[in-house]
Amino acid sequence: MKLTIIGTGYVGLVTGACFAEVGHHVVCVDNDPAKVKLLQDGGIPIYEPGLEELVTRNVQAGRLRFTVSTTEGVEKSDVIFIAVPTPPQADGSVDLSFIEKVAREIAAAMTSYKIVVDKSTVPVKTGDQVAETIKRYCKTKVEFDVVSNPEFLREGFAVEDLMKPDRIVVGVRTQRPVAAMKQLYAPFNAPIVVTDINSAELIKHASNSFLALKISYINAIAVLCEATGANVQEVAAGMGMDERIGRRFLNAGLGFGGSCFPKDLSAFVKIAEQTGYDFRLLKEVQRINADQMDRFLKKITETMWVLKDKKLGVLGLAFKQNTDDVRSSPAIDLCQRLLKEGATLRVHDPKGMDKARAVLPNVTYVDDMNAVAEGCDALVVATEWDEFKKLDLDRARQSLTHPILFDGRNLFDAAEMEAAGWIYKSIGR
Ligand code: UGA
Repeated sequence: MKLTIIGTGYVGLVTGACFAEVGHHVVCVDNDPAKVKLLQDGGIPIYEPGLEELVTRNVQAGRLRFTVSTTEGVEKSDVIFIAVPTPPQADGSVDLSFIEKVAREIAAAMTSYKIVVDKSTVPVKTGDQVAETIKRYCKTKVEFDVVSNPEFLREGFAVEDLMKPDRIVVGVRTQRPVAAMKQLYAPFNAPIVVTDINSAELIKHASNSFLALKISYINAIAVLCEATGANVQEVAAGMGMDERIGRRFLNAGLGFGGSCFPKDLSAFVKIAEQTGYDFRLLKEVQRINADQMDRFLKKITETMWVLKDKKLGVLGLAFKQNTDDVRSSPAIDLCQRLLKEGATLRVHDPKGMDKARAVLPNVTYVDDMNAVAEGCDALVVATEWDEFKKLDLDRARQSLTHPILFDGRNLFDAAEMEAAGWIYKSIGR
């Protein structure tokens, strides 16, 4: 099938590449000429495992191309995906101006029947607004359908999640676009949930909020574990064996960050508020998440006493492993707060250092994770990169003035660390 994706961010670019991989012909549109040029020249603006190979292969096969022209994208395809940013506003609500602008542009370029699919995360009822906008701005009487098709990929696992989805959600107003949507997704062999548009939009916010709730729940349990001498990882393992609960997203730590959970929670609280419902449960999820960082900082200051003139080595800057994304990263927040206390920092992240430089200028970036500890008073783990588990602990201990490690992601075995002479502080253990 021929399809166009408007917006080549994490969602748009990976979706476009994966649709091309299964044989569809995909045009990716972006209004940033520099980004389009980079992609046309074979560059990739983000780090995502497997993405570069996928893009290169499909560009060479002639199934994937990039343009700045929405008109061209709309003319060439039957199905148009909207995958533009929906950033938060100061009051927590969502800025939908990019969606509205793209809807107008699609309307202006339409000359035959199109299926317009929203993939961006949007508040419930946005589909109705998109349909109204297209109707209003379409010059001639062209038929179209609006579909809500939220994306559930995780950064760092985006290609994997897109190629093997748990489910595809398709929200429609009429049955007309259903066959085309099923055909589009047929190669992915996933269950397709066809529903009304409002429900599809709600599924996305409800899912992300539930996952965030799961993380805050285990972080609250971690507080209880610390107070009682229990071990949060053992508790999570025992809980997770109940299939109704499941082990995933029960990792206690510095809390959730990134460009989705914090934003989507605020948006969902706001959406509820607009309907007259005070979603206090989710406000508590936010509060617990903020508390996690305060508690961790308290652990550091309780051990180090004064941070002024102390040198700390920080492992991790990205908001989680397998990504270079530092947006709303708990690790960056932690670094900024340590700097504010007067500490100096040596930092390392396997992929996130380039993007971190813009938001974290006054630190020393170290290319080798094993060299981070040199001359430092303590080490801090802020992101759950698997490769940090392979840190040369003997070398780190020799490099540090004192063998102190604050593990904000529970990467090391507490008993082994203590037996090896470390002053080791982690979360909920
Ligand atoms: C999240 C959802 O998992 C995706 O399904 C969704 O499509 C995406 O948001 C989105 O709306 O676009 P993402 O933000 O990429 O994906 O990353 P996650 O893997 O969900 O991690 C989010 C944060 O939670 C990270 O900071 C991570 O460190 C933290 N986390 C995750 C924990 O603290 N504990 C856990 O057990 C799991």
